[in-house]
Parts: sequence; structure tokens; C-alpha cells
Amino acid sequence: MIKQNTIEKIISTVKIEEVVGEFVTLKRRGVNMLGLCPFHDEKTPSFTVSPAKNIYKCFGCGKGGDPIRFVMDHEAMNYPESLRYLASKYNIDIEETENTAEQKAIKELNDSYFIINEYAQNYFNNQLFNTDEGKSVGLSYYKERGYNEAIIKKFQLGYTSNQRDDFTQSAIVKRYNIDFLKSLGLTSKMGFDFFRSRVMFTIHNLSGKVIAFAGRTLSTDKKTPKYINSPETVIYTKRKVLYGMYFAKQSIRQHDECVMVEGYTDVITLHQYGVENVVASSGTSLTIEQINLVRRFTQNIKIIYDGDAAGIKAALRGLDLVLEQDMNVKLVLLPEGEDPDSFMKSKGIEGFRAYLVEHEEDFVLFKTNLLLKEAGDDPIKKSIVLKDIVQSIAKIPDMIKRQLYIQKCSAMMGIAERIIITEINKVIKADRKQKQAVYDRERAKQAGREEDQISTAPQERGYQNEPTLLTGDDFQEKDLLRVLISHGNLAFNDESNDTVAVFIIDMIRDQIDKIDNALYREMFSIIIDQVDKDGKINTNYFINNDNETMRNQCIDFLSSPYSYASWENKGLLLQTQKDPEHNQEMDAVQSLRRFLLRKSEKEIKLLELKIIEFSNQPKTESQEKTLSTYIKAYKMAQSQRSELASKMGSVFLK
Ligand code: UTP
Ligand code: MN
Repeated sequence: MIKQNTIEKIISTVKIEEVVGEFVTLKRRGVNMLGLCPFHDEKTPSFTVSPAKNIYKCFGCGKGGDPIRFVMDHEAMNYPESLRYLASKYNIDIEETENTAEQKAIKELNDSYFIINEYAQNYFNNQLFNTDEGKSVGLSYYKERGYNEAIIKKFQLGYTSNQRDDFTQSAIVKRYNIDFLKSLGLTSKMGFDFFRSRVMFTIHNLSGKVIAFAGRTLSTDKKTPKYINSPETVIYTKRKVLYGMYFAKQSIRQHDECVMVEGYTDVITLHQYGVENVVASSGTSLTIEQINLVRRFTQNIKIIYDGDAAGIKAALRGLDLVLEQDMNVKLVLLPEGEDPDSFMKSKGIEGFRAYLVEHEEDFVLFKTNLLLKEAGDDPIKKSIVLKDIVQSIAKIPDMIKRQLYIQKCSAMMGIAERIIITEINKVIKADRKQKQAVYDRERAKQAGREEDQISTAPQERGYQNEPTLLTGDDFQEKDLLRVLISHGNLAFNDESNDTVAVFIIDMIRDQIDKIDNALYREMFSIIIDQVDKDGKINTNYFINNDNETMRNQCIDFLSSPYSYASWENKGLLLQTQKDPEHNQEMDAVQSLRRFLLRKSEKEIKLLELKIIEFSNQPKTESQEKTLSTYIKAYKMAQSQRSELASKMGSVFLK
């Protein structure tokens, strides 16, 4: 593992404009630099680099981060890989913590597996092109399918003949470890070749290394399985792999869309015809790991189905998973009896593309339509449909997107928006309660292990992408977080020794539990921990966080010009005040007051309810006492509210 001080050295040395500059032409624009975004297709530049803050942010697609993140995203590297990349660019020596014997063994094993797979791939490839049987059977099969030689070579297709153990023997002669050959599934337990008499498809990881194979039989014998696959190994986990991703990633990024098909042959055909942003889940249903893999390149998935209605309905169930990850999902149904492979061949590229555009349907609306058709006029069936659709919509983290779906589905189903919203909020609350319980348990577990977290990258949090309720204190919570992140470490004012963060934290320390939004709540408590420990906020922690939502939120705070999005300040204050970054005191105080006012109003409502509940029933002595404490608290909250409100101007009371 790379040592923490090396990481810090890298972070403090690398310059965002130099790292980005290697891939993007940047022009100076004021204090920032501007260029065409490498993460999405654009004509006018909206990709902004801030040398002062050492971050980038695209105002077109929203991607942003520090130099490490840029390398991770642009080069599809993981955290340590991108650190190594940057270290070599800046000639920084990497100090590593000693690898344990176990870690070394794992690395050696991985390397051996890759080497053996590479050998096998060459063997199958050689059989295809340079043996009589390979040419007459394998190659002619591929040619019949319409594959040209370039695409066969690009995808490293191959062939194996029906010899008992030719491959295994050749590998043993090369001194490859027989146990490894067996673990990789290339050789059977008995020592025979596992893949025999098949055309071979090579499965690559993201950096193009061979991790597995699939072999397709050419026999029409029903007893022979059509495809057989390598088993799972340390280098091949089925649920994490999408076939073709290595060849598709660049194109997915450019088109900002990932086309998903069922099988190997579909991917290859589409590629040959020029649709390169395509991957296959290889016959199984989508997993969360596969979705996260796609999400590294785009938020848009287009799934091409060639199944029947029943199959599609089953597939739709799994797709809520995709919504939950804040992905946009479109579906395209192919005509009866066609798969992408055959359809491309009969229509050609133009016809194929046109069909996709004409027939793509939004997943949620598609699902609503399909279920509604089945339900007909039956009111009970319809209410079941509503429950089902509401489950899907509630998974969408983005509030605006959710609102749009509510409108559309309300129209489609003939059910009032208000009713749908209520149902959705119920689902969100239930989900949230469940997640909170999990999260609390995690926190309790972690409480004792603060120390060993420092040298590792921040971990993924469970509640990532949690949808927020449609009404809530989001705005106030978010705005206060903005203040903390964007200038929490500045002095509160010219006379003060305290920072903005210290000032704010003193006022809200006991309110953390009242923060509605789980992501913000987590960020607040991290900030409080940081300030308590080091006296300042470490924004790098957020910028480098594995949790993408958290990371982007932080970048947004740092890169947007101050956002007084709210109506209450326009006109009045801003004309006479400096912008918030230069008037941290005013900004902090206002944001804090809005936050506290909101929370105290909530408190008041809560106490009101409790008091009403108590007042309407006969009381024991101890209940009398409880009631009077409620009333006291109620009065205090009220006077606190008036004080805050009078400081802010009466606008807030209404
Ligand atoms: P197909 O049956 O269409 O395979 O399955 P194919 O090779 O394209 O055959 P033809 O020429 O159309 O008849 C589509 C995908 O489903 C997966 C493979 O990924 C295949 O490409 N599959 C299919 C399996 O994994 N195992 C199987 O036994 C069958
Ligand atoms: Mn097929």
C-alpha cells in the first residue's frame, strides 16, 4: 500500500492544469482555465479548471474533482493506479508500506493467471488462423456470421479443435503450473482440455487483460451446451464484468450512453457496424456491480431487448436497481424473432440507428404502460400497479426527475399527483428508516476504529444516493454545508481568532440528529470530527471520497460561484455586501440563522403536537409534569424563533 506521506506529497505537488492539460487544450479565462470537456461531447467549452483550488469541474456534465480523480475517471484507473501514474509524471518516489506475505502471494498469483490466460488466448488464436481445421471450421463460421478479419483480431476470437489435451500438454511443455491451469478452468480435473471443439470468445478486464473465456459449440446436438465459460477466479468475478467494456469505454464516454445487449455475438456485430458503445451482460440479469461499472463512464443506459413480454416483465423487476443508482434507463424492444445481431445485419447501420431512436422508451413510463395494459379497468389491479410504479419512482434520487415522473404517471394512470406523492414519501420514509438503522449499526461498529482509517481511502457509505423527501430542510442544510466547505477555514471576521467552522459548529453541535438529509448529516459529522481533531476542515477528504455523491457535492460547493439561490437575499443585502467568499461573516451568520430557524420551527410543531395530545386526556401526576416541561420547551423554542426571525427580517415568519 502506498504510504500516507507519499499520498500527501503527490496531492501537494501535482497541478491540475498540468494533469488535465495533457488531454485537454485549456485556455485562460480570468482566474480559471477553460476547455472542451473530455467526459462528454460538447461544442462550446464548459470544462473549467481552477489552478488556485486545484480542481476541475464541467458545468455541462457535472463531472468534477481533483487531479487524482481526473486520472481515475479519464484513464479508468483505480485510486492507487492513478496515484502511481501521477507520481511517475512528477518523479515522486513512492514509499510503500511493506506488503504482507499474503498480499505478495496474491499479486504473484494474479500475475501468473494473466500470463497463462494470455498464453491460452494466443493458442486459440493461432488455432483459428494457422491450422487447417481452425480455418475450415472456426474461421469460416465467423466469416459466415459476417465478421471480418479486423474485428476477429480486435476481439481476439479463437478456435479449439477436439483434441483431448493438446492445449494442456503444450502449456506443460512451456512450464506453466498445472494447478493454475485447472483453477483457471482451462484444464479439467482429469488433466484434459476443458474447451474442445468450440469457437472461443475472450473476456477482458477494463485494462484489456484476459480474465476468462467463453466457448461456443458449433454442433447442433441438443445435448451439448451452447456456451461454456471459465469458472470464477480471483481475476474473474462474473457479476463485476460486462463483456466488451474494454473496447467500449471510450465510445461510451463520447456518446454519454451505454448500449446493453444480451450476448457476445451481438456486441461484436454492432462493433463491426460502427456502434462501439455497446456491452453485454452475457445472458444473466444486471448486477449492481455492473451498473457501477457503467456509471464510471455514463449515467445513460439503453437496453436492447429481444425477449417476449413475460421475459421482459421479469427483467424489468431488476431495473429498479439501476434507478437507485441515479441512472437514466431507456428500453428498446426489437421486432419478434430478431436479436441485435440479426437485426443489424438485415437493417444496416442507418436502419438500426433510426430504429433505436424511434423505439426507445423511458423505463419507468414503459413499465407503467405495460402494467396498466395488463390491469385493464380492474381497480384492485390498478392499485397494485400504482404500488409497483411508486416503488420505482421512489428509488430515483434526483428530486426534479422524480417530480417529472410523478406528473407523467399521474396523467397516464388518472391518479392525482398528490396521492402519488404521498405514496412515494411513504416508501422513501420506510427505506430511510431501514437505511438509518443499518447506518447506525455501522457507525457504532466504526466508533472504536477511527485510528486505522486515516491511511486508507474513504470508504463507500451505504446510504449513497438516498432519495430526499419532497419537502424537508434540504435547502437550509445544504446551504450551511456550502458555507462550511467553501470557506469554513477562514477567520470568522477580522477581529476573531475563530474560524467560520468553529463558530458554526458551536451553534449546531447538538442539532446534528435533526438533519434530515442523510448525506448532509454524514458530512456535518465528519466536519465536526475534523475540526475537533485538527482545528480545521479537510476538504480533500471529501474530494477524494469513494462516495461519488459526496465527492460531487463537495466539488459543487467549491466550484460554483457563491449561490444565494434563495429569493430572500436578492435586492436587499447583496447590493451592499461583498460576495460571500469575501464576506464570510455575513454569509455564515445568515446561513446559520436560516438553518436554526428552520429547525426551531420544526421543534415548535413537534412540541405543539405533543402538547395537544396530552391536553386532551386525563393525566397522572407525572404526566402533568411532562406536559409542563413540554410547555416550557415550547415557550423557549418560540422565543428563540422570534429572536432569530427578528434578526433576519420578518419575511421568514410566513
Ligand atoms: P444466442 O443463443 O443468441 O447465442 O444467445 P448466439 O451465439 O448469438 O447464437 P445464434 O447464432 O444467435 O443462434 C445470446 C447470448 O446469450 C448468452 C451468450 O452471451 C450469447 O451470446 N448465452 C446463450 C450463454 O451464455 N449461454 C448459452 O448457453 C446461451
Ligand atoms: Mn444470437
